[in-house]
Amino acid sequence: MSTPSSPSTRSATPMTQDELKTLVGQAALQYVVPGEIVGVGTGSTVNKFIDALATMKDQIRGAVSSSQASTARLKALGIPVFDSNEVTRLSVYIDGADEIDGQGHMVKGGGAALTREKIVAAQSDRFVCIADESKLVHTLGKFPLPVEVIPMATRRVMAQFADMGGDARVRLKDGQPLVTDNGQHIVDVTGLTIADPLAFEARVSQWPGVVTVGVFAFQKAQVCLLGTPQGVRTLTF
Ligand code: 5RP
Repeated sequence: MSTPSSPSTRSATPMTQDELKTLVGQAALQYVVPGEIVGVGTGSTVNKFIDALATMKDQIRGAVSSSQASTARLKALGIPVFDSNEVTRLSVYIDGADEIDGQGHMVKGGGAALTREKIVAAQSDRFVCIADESKLVHTLGKFPLPVEVIPMATRRVMAQFADMGGDARVRLKDGQPLVTDNGQHIVDVTGLTIADPLAFEARVSQWPGVVTVGVFAFQKAQVCLLGTPQGVRTLTF
């Protein structure tokens, strides 16, 4: 599953998490296909990728973005952004994760962009996850699971998670429920052990009012570039 893919970068001073993110953001450039449109995720690791992508912007047609934040960053760097409906297939989607397991299943949505992330991932042939090594887990569930919910269903969805043994809280911003790019709310669920990500995603996705659950099992990663103090580890699934 795991192959070392880059020379050792070990140095006297341990790399910070930010430096590990820069490392994998730059390493992801090798998966960008010249002449094509690339799918771009959201988050602090993806921001490093976007910055690196700007160095080869003349070699690509542009990007499909998974959030208003990434769109703004791409445009500021002069990278054209296409609506996902303008594009049929993308050969690659590059995004971070809050957790990734040994099969490429992920928890995502820490940046509240999970719905658009899942849409762009679904239209892409390959998902390349970029993450520092703290994101690699044996079983998903330690990171609070983000779920995008239509506000009128929040109470009922939270009760359904309580029935599963979870504790769901509405994500707040400045003391008010955070509003996503899609005008919905996020609940974050702790206390879950997601032993079967495919079954879990299928089940929760059926609940009325759930827009998107942050388990990416149907849209899992095929590749993970994991930043470690020894360099980039490439996991393939
Ligand atoms: C945003 C996401 C991000 O990919 C995830 O939260 C990881 O972010 P970061 O790279 O900042 O750790 O799913 O909705």
